[in-house]
Formats: sequence, structure tokens, C-alpha cells
Amino acid sequence: MTVRALERSASPIGALTDFTPDSAVVAFENASVAFGRRTIWSGANFELKAGEFVGLIGPNGTGKTTLLRVLLGQVPLAAGSVRVLGRPPGRGNPAIGYVPQRRSLAADLAVRGYDLVLLGLVGYKWGFGPASAAERRAVDEALEAVGASGYADQPVGLLSGGEQQRLLIAQALLTHPKLLLLDEPLASLDLKSQHEIVHLVEAIRVDRQVTVLLVAHDLNPLLEMLDGIVFILDGRVIAGSLDEVVTSALLSQLYETPVHVHVTSDGHRFVVGA
Ligand SMILES: Nc1ncnc2c1ncn2[C@@H]1O[C@H](COP(=O)(O)OP(=O)(O)OP(=O)(O)O)[C@@H](O)[C@H]1O
Ligand SMILES: [Mg+2]
Repeated sequence: MTVRALERSASPIGALTDFTPDSAVVAFENASVAFGRRTIWSGANFELKAGEFVGLIGPNGTGKTTLLRVLLGQVPLAAGSVRVLGRPPGRGNPAIGYVPQRRSLAADLAVRGYDLVLLGLVGYKWGFGPASAAERRAVDEALEAVGASGYADQPVGLLSGGEQQRLLIAQALLTHPKLLLLDEPLASLDLKSQHEIVHLVEAIRVDRQVTVLLVAHDLNPLLEMLDGIVFILDGRVIAGSLDEVVTSALLSQLYETPVHVHVTSDGHRFVVGA
């Protein structure tokens, strides 16, 4: 059904979402998550609007990946409510593109970049088998969008971390998602590659009018791009615009240590100490 998958994904609105331009792409209301009797976070009350680029920031183990899995319909809420593209989360929604937290690709992985991206369609097809012309076009287009066409024939295990990350983003773009969930795409990249990936994601956001939620540990590589931030700290979820939350006072309180937000003369923020 390969063709049907592509047709459906080319216009996911309507079939799989009740989304209208004015509605929030993601809306949490008093939401909390627990595993057994352990509450991971609570008090999530925020919305992502269409086309926003939002960072999800917090220390290890605070529940960032869990929040993405809530949006994917993989983890139920313990309380409150959440809507994604106008409806409760459900599994296998092609309107959501997801890059999971880095599985490191083994150095001896012989799969070509092209085939790794093609795997993004598995799950929307009835089975394996040779790729159709429409699928090959979709893969070429996604490779182009992330600037990976030049090395798509190489075994992915031999590619750099930044090149691998681009292929994983291409894979997530195959179904033309309206919401892109990226779990730590900057982890283990050097500063230059971090910068390039942030700019790539921003270009995709603009070109494809997609809403982006990107998980990261460090705010600084993201600050020039973000429209909003969601922090998870000590089980609390705090969300707001950069003006609202990226202040020395609030960050020092959140991190319980002196944090200084430096604002450069051209208006860029830089966080020291978090
Ligand atoms: N299915 C599960 N059952 C029980 N506990 C879980 C489950 N999934 C996650 N947890 C726990 O929930 C907490 C949050 O995990 P999560 O992976 O969401 O954190 P994270 O913020 O993404 O961390 P990191 O920055 O290390 O990726 C952790 O303590 C984790 O062990
Ligand atoms: Mg995680």
C-alpha cells in the first residue's frame, strides 16, 4: 500500500487530525505522568502553536523523552489531558515526525544512508519489498531537504555524527509531518555541527511549516532560534516565551544555583552556569 501511505501522508490534515490553523498543535492541561506510584512530572500546562520552535530542556532522567512518548501515544497520562493536532494522542500518526534519542549507529553498520531513510516508511506500508517510484522520490526529496544527498550511498556506520543526525531527520520527514519531535539531536555533536543542525531544523520549520519540539540539555545553541521553552525540573513543568523564562532570576530559582543570563548588544541571550 505504499502509494496509499504517501497519498495519505501528503495531506494528513483531515484524515488523521482535526487540526485547524487556529488550534494549538499540542495542548497540555494539568497533565502529569507516573510510572507505578512514582510521579515523573506534573502540572504540565502549555500549548505549542502552529509553526513554533520550542526547546524541551532538563537534566537527565526528568522525563523529557517521556513527554515526547506521551505525544506519540506511547505513555498514558496519570492525570489531566493532552491533545495533539486537535485530538488525543494515538500511535502511528504520520502527521508526527519523530527522531528518537540517539541510538548510536554501529561503525560496522553496512546499511546505506538511502536505505536508512527509506526505513521511515516502514510501518506505513503493508510490508517490505522494493521501493516504488513514489517512495524513491520521497526519499530523494527528504535527503535533499537535509543536505544529505551527497553521502546517501555511503554505509551509515562510517558517517560523522552530524551526517547521521541529518539522515535520521530525513527519515522523520518522509511522511510530511506537521509536528516534529527531536530527542537530543545535538547530543555528542561538536559546536559547529550543533549550530548546523539547529539551522537545518529552523530551515525545515520555515520551508515545511512544521511545529518543532526539540529536546536538549544545553540552552545556548538553541537560544537564537527558539520561540518558547519548556523546562522540566524536579518534577515540575515550566513553559513560556524566552522573555518569560530565560531570566537570571527564574533560571537561578529553577536550577537552585546562580545562573546568569547575559544579553548581548544585538539582543542575543547567553546562559552561564545552568
Ligand atoms: N516505561 C517506564 N517504566 C518505568 N519507569 C520509566 C519508564 N520510562 C521511563 N522511566 C523512568 O522515568 C524517568 C524519566 O525518564 P526519561 O527517559 O523520560 O528521562 P529524560 O529526561 O529523557 O532523561 P535523559 O536526559 O537521560 O534522556 C527515568 O527515571 C526513567 O527511568
Ligand atoms: Mg531522554
